[in-house]
Amino acid sequence: MPLVTSKEMFKKAYDGGYAIGAFNVNNMEIVQGITEACREEKAPVILQVSKGARAYANHTYLVKLVEAAVIECPEIPIVLHLDHGPDFETCKSCIDGGFTSVMIDASSKPFKENIEITRKVVEYAHDHGVVVEAELGTLAGIEDEVKVSAEDSSYTHPEEVEEFVSKTGCDSLAIAIGTSHGAYKFKPGTKPQLRFDVLEEVSRRLPGFPIVLHGSSSVPQNYVEMINSHGGKMPGAIGVPEDQLRHAAELSVCKINIDSDLRLAMTGTIRQFFDEHPDKFDPREYLKPARANIKELVRHKLIDVLGCAGKA
Ligand code: G3H
Ligand code: 13P
Ligand code: ZN
Repeated sequence: MPLVTSKEMFKKAYDGGYAIGAFNVNNMEIVQGITEACREEKAPVILQVSKGARAYANHTYLVKLVEAAVIECPEIPIVLHLDHGPDFETCKSCIDGGFTSVMIDASSKPFKENIEITRKVVEYAHDHGVVVEAELGTLAGIEDEVKVSAEDSSYTHPEEVEEFVSKTGCDSLAIAIGTSHGAYKFKPGTKPQLRFDVLEEVSRRLPGFPIVLHGSSSVPQNYVEMINSHGGKMPGAIGVPEDQLRHAAELSVCKINIDSDLRLAMTGTIRQFFDEHPDKFDPREYLKPARANIKELVRHKLIDVLGCAGKA
């Protein structure tokens, strides 16, 4: 099947009590690792591209890699999504350039300005058959080189969501309930706790409306250890507990963004490979196990965290 929007996917996910995985893609091995797992587990998937990914790999290469995955995986629905679109022009360029979904992230702007920018993107996107994710609230962590400290982050205010969604016409809403971007989310020894009270109040005010969680990597400790035992230095990296994400997926959360975990799997595998094979230099030899570990990590997320295996 051709690339799809997330409309139908989200409806089924909402009703079925599971979430779709949204994984960031930057190169061929990442696209292959993710989509091979999704094909084998019969899971719908969102492949997302950030501004940084477009700057690194080029828009056309990324679109063509995703189109190749669509050809190789005809049984599963695949969405091509812009992650954290910073402005109207970037969203327009992706809408004109083959994406089926875009995020406009004006969450750092004042409420009224966020509404105005989002509404402009929604009008253009809907005219072109593309869906729009917007954001209210600010996550901590690093995204597209912007670092937000925990003190400057803020939970979504549930009393704002109805006005925001009705005035913008957005198709899904990313909210801040305590997740955080990057691999250094929480201090070791602390017990991260998502604000399910905020999520439940948002859902009560927006019945049937798909909610999105960013910053949902769990920072698998086996990969942090693999990195650190093969020359890396990642002290104190811990993430969002997977059981809390599973619970969010049973509620109104229909899309869960995971990027850092795949980076950790890739980096750990490559570090270990170089440590064990200092004489090797063929990129295919170290990218092959990295791709395989991304695939197994995605398989685990589909089955144990998102609950979307078998839902394609
Ligand atoms: O939230 C941001 C994503 O993890 C993308 O990261 O901007 O480094 O591509 P990036
Ligand atoms: P992580 O850094 O937790 O993987 O979050 C990814 C993300 O939110 C992409 O938009
Ligand atoms: Zn994000």
